[in-house]
Amino acid sequence: MYKVKISLIALAIAGIQLNAEAQRKTVNQRVDSVMRLMTLDEKIGQLNQYSGREVTGPLVKQNANMLNDIRQGKVGSMLNVQGVQNTRHVQEEAMRSRLKIPLLFGMDVIHGYKTIFPVPLAESATWDMDLIRLSAHIAAKEAAAVGLHWTFAPMVDVARDPRWGRIMEGAGEDTYLGNDIARARVLGFQGDKLGGLDAVMACAKHFAAYGAVSSGRDYNDVEMSEHQLWETYLPPFKAAVDAGAATFMSSFNTLNGVPTAASNYLQRDILKGQWKYSGFVVSDWGSIDQMIKWGYVPDKKQAALKAIISGCDMDMMSYSYIEHLKELVNTKQVSIKLIDDAVKRILAKKFELGLFDDPYRFCNEEREKAELNNPEHVKATLKVAQRSIVLLKNEASILPIQNSFKKIAVIGPLADSKRDMQGAWAGANDADRVVTLLSGLKQKIGNGVQITYTKGSTIKTNDTTGFAEAVKVAKDADLVIMALGEAYDQSGESRSRADIGLPGSQDQLFSAVQATGKPVVAVLMAGRPLIFSNIAAKANAILYAWFLGDQAGNAIADVLTGAVNPSGKLPVTFPRSVGQIPLTYNDYKTGHPYNSNVFQYQTGYIDVPNAPRYAFGHGLSYTTFKYSDLKLDRSTMRKNGKITASLTLTNTGTRAGEEVVQMYIHDPVASVVQPTKKLKGYGKVALEPGASTTIVFIINAETLSFYNQQLKWDAEPGKFKVMIGSASDDIKLQADIELQ
Ligand code: NOJ
Repeated sequence: MYKVKISLIALAIAGIQLNAEAQRKTVNQRVDSVMRLMTLDEKIGQLNQYSGREVTGPLVKQNANMLNDIRQGKVGSMLNVQGVQNTRHVQEEAMRSRLKIPLLFGMDVIHGYKTIFPVPLAESATWDMDLIRLSAHIAAKEAAAVGLHWTFAPMVDVARDPRWGRIMEGAGEDTYLGNDIARARVLGFQGDKLGGLDAVMACAKHFAAYGAVSSGRDYNDVEMSEHQLWETYLPPFKAAVDAGAATFMSSFNTLNGVPTAASNYLQRDILKGQWKYSGFVVSDWGSIDQMIKWGYVPDKKQAALKAIISGCDMDMMSYSYIEHLKELVNTKQVSIKLIDDAVKRILAKKFELGLFDDPYRFCNEEREKAELNNPEHVKATLKVAQRSIVLLKNEASILPIQNSFKKIAVIGPLADSKRDMQGAWAGANDADRVVTLLSGLKQKIGNGVQITYTKGSTIKTNDTTGFAEAVKVAKDADLVIMALGEAYDQSGESRSRADIGLPGSQDQLFSAVQATGKPVVAVLMAGRPLIFSNIAAKANAILYAWFLGDQAGNAIADVLTGAVNPSGKLPVTFPRSVGQIPLTYNDYKTGHPYNSNVFQYQTGYIDVPNAPRYAFGHGLSYTTFKYSDLKLDRSTMRKNGKITASLTLTNTGTRAGEEVVQMYIHDPVASVVQPTKKLKGYGKVALEPGASTTIVFIINAETLSFYNQQLKWDAEPGKFKVMIGSASDDIKLQADIELQ
């Protein structure tokens, strides 16, 4: 019976593969049939992308040149044209071209289109791939309903420097978690299959190593060893390829001296060569042209030459391809084969999206209206927001708010600020949809509790005129909730900060309020880890609320009141000082190990400890969990074998709660020095008070592998340490295993 089942499944899988293969063939045949009709100009046109801010919208000036290029088949894609009416209008222009090849419409739908979800770094704190996938899927549904075919997301850059403003756009510092999140987001955006009306093409960006820009300054250079590139920065891109990401975007940095849009190594050797990637690569905005500024090429023609030869298929907004590729082909500096390959990749996606069958299939006013006002989307963003919140500190279990607090003061410039809650890259956001912390609390706090609000300060300025009122309000309260942090435009692209403390006079405001002696709960909002030593030391409780999107206030109020038990865990290390950056939990070992008893000759500082303020994986709950009974089914294995590790997790508190159980591995002796620990497994589980469950991790050769000196992914025989805990700095159970 078992055998019969297996062979039926095998047949079914083979059937699906045959089907996919047949579809690919059909797409290829259809692409070839169009290619045969195309002139060189029309082919080059497919590789050209313009921004449509100037061509759409009733109030915006129409750009005659751009429209003319579209009509002549000189444009393959438009970005920033959105809305059924606008996309239809611009697509109609494309339908006036000789071959009527439909345009692709793309936009940065990063964490929601109309319904704004928590920023990606916040969502990553859920460690919940189903939720992350759901959020991407809803963003895709809304985007596809307004005529879009393509989002420039997910950003899968590993980011370890919180000064870099774009850390908010990714999954944080860890490669293993980053791989899973890359996969979840790609699958979420692309749905079951490209071509569905609820799916858009994903774009894994920014290829590659953009998260490691030196000094955290946006667009800066990246100098990186091959080992670091392969071990830490490339895997999430590979995960995106494996998940079927339709497109890739190159980055705004040079990698070891080469602009990535001109990197043969990245685009041809690795992506299209070793990884056999069949999608297409778009440059980042104007980055082909920027090769001139780098001093990499003398002029635009050379920039176009470098980019096309190196495997960049589409030029976003630098006009280099449209202006120079024809001459480069005619003078035989660029082979027509390269052009054809790029065009085929782009046309294939247009076929897969069904645009050749109906160029307007994503343009439907009714669907647009329904999807943008879908109440299910609001529920989903609330759920994701609730689970993104990280409880960093909760002295004497002051939270959830107790019934004895009858007068609550809400103070701070972020307490009632709608737009800031949506964070950067907020799609086609509508700030009026946002529920702020103040309004959320007012709705959720029971009758009989008085809430008094005062702003106290602005977010960014040094103004202190509101302090006196804030102190007065605090003095009159039983509990103070302070909403402090960054403005939405202080993280994101081009928003690097050298000082990642609280901006303006907010820290002083906190001190003034805290000096009243009233218990203070700090709710911190930002797109990055902030440094807040004063608050970390003196606040009674701290919730890290990032930028949580449209339902921010309801989500925070749910956690403050205990309707929701916080379960977020940090996807990134929170340093205590800017001087520690970059700081990660998985630092490499050194010959002078850090040991707080020894003052000298250790890998550390003489003025601050090595430990972060809050470690990767940290996050408290209103309940407590006990880890016990770690068992291995065996302690030695061969390369083709596996070890099953199981443990018991018990909710020892009085409330239901969720815990993210984390498994770290350490390889004590290896041919390449290894980090002190690497995340290699995790699981999020919900438990009722008093309940226990068994958590199981499988350890195999993959779990134990690393890139060796030959850059081969391999596991070396020897001993390994398995560590299981509730944070990278809170290991509860350990065991030794051996690979034979
Ligand atoms: C520049 C950004 O780096 C990239 O992430 C984005 O997708 C493009 N602009 C298009 O807006």
